[in-house]
Amino acid sequence: MTTFKTIDDLEPAQRLLVRIDVNAPVSDGVVQDNRRFARHAETIAELLADDHAVALLAHQGRPGRDTFVTLEGHADVLADHLGRNVEYVPDTFGEEALEAIRNLEAGDVLVLENARMCEEELPEEAPEVKADTEFVQTLAPEFDAYVNDAYSAAHRSHASLVGFPLAMDAYAGRVMETEYTANSAIRKREFDGTVTMVLGGTKAEDLIPVIERVDDTVDRFCLGGIVGELFLRADGHDVGYDVDGTEFFDHQWDDHRETIERVLSEYGDRLLLAEDLASEDGAGERAETAVGEIEKETSYLDVGSDTAERYADLVRESEAVFVKGALGVFEDERFATGTVEVLSAIAETDCFSVVGGGDTARAVDMYDLEAEDFSHVSVAGGAYVRALTGEELVGVDVLERAA
Ligand code: 3PG
Ligand code: MG
Repeated sequence: MTTFKTIDDLEPAQRLLVRIDVNAPVSDGVVQDNRRFARHAETIAELLADDHAVALLAHQGRPGRDTFVTLEGHADVLADHLGRNVEYVPDTFGEEALEAIRNLEAGDVLVLENARMCEEELPEEAPEVKADTEFVQTLAPEFDAYVNDAYSAAHRSHASLVGFPLAMDAYAGRVMETEYTANSAIRKREFDGTVTMVLGGTKAEDLIPVIERVDDTVDRFCLGGIVGELFLRADGHDVGYDVDGTEFFDHQWDDHRETIERVLSEYGDRLLLAEDLASEDGAGERAETAVGEIEKETSYLDVGSDTAERYADLVRESEAVFVKGALGVFEDERFATGTVEVLSAIAETDCFSVVGGGDTARAVDMYDLEAEDFSHVSVAGGAYVRALTGEELVGVDVLERAA
């Protein structure tokens, strides 16, 4: 199905430049482990077992943000996952980096410095322009091949992602391959039975294009989260308004009101909205309210139990389910009902299923669901949304061109 070369096509014992995406939350300057590390560690272990010498290229944060840190901590987290030492080199393509790369032997792995610390990495430019940068032109001759495993960054036209495939032999890593195959299924596979999409989370601008673009493939959309509340507001309910200082709703309403109203009327009965919502009562307990009795002043944190049950029932009769975004604030156990009931229904059912959006995937771990019970748990955010809308990912596109 895919038209790029994969690491199965590599000769053994090559010198490889491997782009991974371990962009992760940083707390007090310390990078936090997440599913991305574990997944890339599998690719790396496989490459090392084939006697390749591996230099890892990655990014973290963006200049100006407090998540913009070096990759020293990332090397340690990867080392934990791999059960072996991972050298960290505080340089990307200068003398220090080149020396460390030249000293790499078969079965060795090192991490180069945060690619976004190089000026040529970030500006979004055409792959041909990126291929011509000093960054790419300096590193490419040091290696036999380039492997892109960074599916979750494949929507960015940055030097480390799109420059190398035009300058040297290029292959997709395991994460790239599995993410691409599962996330493109909505566009590329035919499903005989019902296809359901569960959409939640916080950003209307992410979800509206998904609804509009998969129109012909999806039989019903189950909405929740902040976006679900905005649709309820468009449907005439007293919900989806900011309360005491929150800034989730009103600006999105101002920006997207017309589109939401249009989508709501166009998709009508295929678009399912919550029939009840949950909030915190005076005693700190979960309280549920039918949508007809909702109050503007209350902050709602989850879909209600009736809604959760209805969505879970719909999942059980589906042949394929795609999840993007949480139905409630699942980090708080009291408001995890919607998200967890839907995920549990998917896990129990033998449907083709993809769960994506960094946060939603985290609920799988938090509530002891087994990743194996889903066809695919995506580690991608923006790239996953683009895959659902059928938009090309520039990082995948150049791999295909290179092949
Ligand atoms: C991500 O974490 O979603 C990717 O690594 C892309 O990062 P960016 O949104 O900062 O470009
Ligand atoms: Mg299952």
